[in-house]
Amino acid sequence: MKLLLFSLFVSCLGASAAPDGAQLFANNCAACHVLDQMVVGPSLAEMRQLYLGKPDDFVKWCVAPKKKRENVIEMPSMVHVGDDGLRAIYAHVMKVAEGVKVKKQEAGDPYATSSTYNARPQVQRIFLPNAGPAAIAVALDATNSLCWDAGECRMRYAWTGGFIDGFPYWRGNGSNVASVIGTVKYREAQSPFGEVKDVKFLGYAMQDKLPTFRYRIGAQKITERFTPAKNGAGFQRSFTITPAPTAAMTLEFTAQDGVIITSDKGTMSGDKLTISPADATAFTLTFSLK
Ligand code: HEC
Repeated sequence: MKLLLFSLFVSCLGASAAPDGAQLFANNCAACHVLDQMVVGPSLAEMRQLYLGKPDDFVKWCVAPKKKRENVIEMPSMVHVGDDGLRAIYAHVMKVAEGVKVKKQEAGDPYATSSTYNARPQVQRIFLPNAGPAAIAVALDATNSLCWDAGECRMRYAWTGGFIDGFPYWRGNGSNVASVIGTVKYREAQSPFGEVKDVKFLGYAMQDKLPTFRYRIGAQKITERFTPAKNGAGFQRSFTITPAPTAAMTLEFTAQDGVIITSDKGTMSGDKLTISPADATAFTLTFSLK
């Protein structure tokens, strides 16, 4: 009954300027929560099991989250989203997670906290230096790591020599920033797609313990997958763009000393890649780092 009233309330709001639960979720929660499995935080399916019919408790948690589970970071407070916003997110979560089963986590939690690299790729949602609040640190292998900014939907920098020292972060209350172990070798000044306006993070999917970041720019869906370079220091970065662009496009990377960028398709000229619409649907760049 309570739920029914609540959904009526939400649909009434829908007539006026109701907050968009899906959009608010994408902006504030998607970096840590996905539909059907534990990543940084629990799945939406689990949230539904815990909070169906309890919007007030849901909002309370989001405003003042507690330390509850083992081996996860503390969820930062979402108080800035506001009560109405959190209620809209609640409605969105309850709707999309209906009937969804929680998938078992892969063995060897790739998100487990660790300040020393343990010879396995890992992904950690953390506050990193020179990145927005939605930074995701990815260790590709024992040599190569990178920072991806889920807020701006772009890679920030890549480094070699180690992963991250999360201690300042774990010790503090989330306001501290972790430090990078090793040397930053490549920094990207902006999105390769230029000054993007209408950009939206769609979350990331794990495949072989490495993430594929998904986002949307205007009407185009983009995926970016990172893997370690086959030989030596560096990484490969595979893009897919759907639907294919209607004309040839140019992606601009950030040239710097000691970095060689090559592409399996299109024409590379300096730090610019020009690629035909057909090739733009799937291509891979290699970033070799000295
Ligand atoms: C920085 C990562 C991060 C972000 C962003 C984040 N969460 Fe969380 N969330 C977590 C983690 C980690 C946990 C598990 C904490 C624990 O169990 O100690 C969690 C737990 C939860 C839970 C489960 C509470 C329970 O009783 O077990 C809910 C519900 C939730 N988050 C909702 C949200 C919503 C809604 C948003 C966006 C407004 C959000 N979270 C944003 C990391 C995040």
